[in-house]
Amino acid sequence: MAETTGLFVSFEGGEGAGKSTQIRRLADRLRGLGHEVLVTREPGGSPGAEAVRHVLLSGAAEMFGTRMEAILFAAARNDHVEEVIRPALMRGVIVLCDRFMDSSRVYQGVTGNLAPEFIEALQRVAVDGVVPDCTLILDIPAAIGLERARKRALPTAAGPDRFEKEEMQTHEKRREAFLDIAARDPDRCHVVDARRSEDDIAGEIADIIDERLAREADMPAARPEAAR
Ligand code: TMP
Repeated sequence: MAETTGLFVSFEGGEGAGKSTQIRRLADRLRGLGHEVLVTREPGGSPGAEAVRHVLLSGAAEMFGTRMEAILFAAARNDHVEEVIRPALMRGVIVLCDRFMDSSRVYQGVTGNLAPEFIEALQRVAVDGVVPDCTLILDIPAAIGLERARKRALPTAAGPDRFEKEEMQTHEKRREAFLDIAARDPDRCHVVDARRSEDDIAGEIADIIDERLAREADMPAARPEAAR
């Protein structure tokens, strides 16, 4: 099969980091420059994966344990990859995905206490070679991110209760885990400080993607992964 010419960008990060806003802004910018862009998300992004999203996010699978949930995330991811992402990359589209494999590493692996070997085995099957060219990790301290998310949900809510404080520790652990992934895979991952203004963040992301697109244009043979 011919190699792909698209670009696969995933967005990762905790609550209230502003992923959706930044994905929308980047998509608008890239479309304005004449690129074909597909915005998608996980869990979900294909009809099969959206059905699994409902099962996962409603909490219906929670009682069956974290392993079950991890396998369902992987099943959804594989459907999404095969039905949507790989075909789009083959057509030369820029794919912007709200969460991808790193979320499983962090949520099911680190804070779900599943063994890294188990998570990595699932990932190999799920992504089948379709690994993001670039991952933007929108980094925000858990306290700030949760506060933003809480304001968005309920403008007049009081400060965090005991449960929310416990949650904060979990969110901080996830933040550390995303930073750890970035440190171990610096060519793919970029940590973006999400405490700044929307415009500043969008500017940095634009620079990162422009540089990445220029690199792809210089080395079209460098990304054969999704071309199977
Ligand atoms: P979101 O639409 O707010 O990003 O919600 C998706 C939720 O699913 C979020 O809490 C993170 C979680 N998630 C996982 O636990 N594992 C995964 O692999 C993915 C993609 C998401």
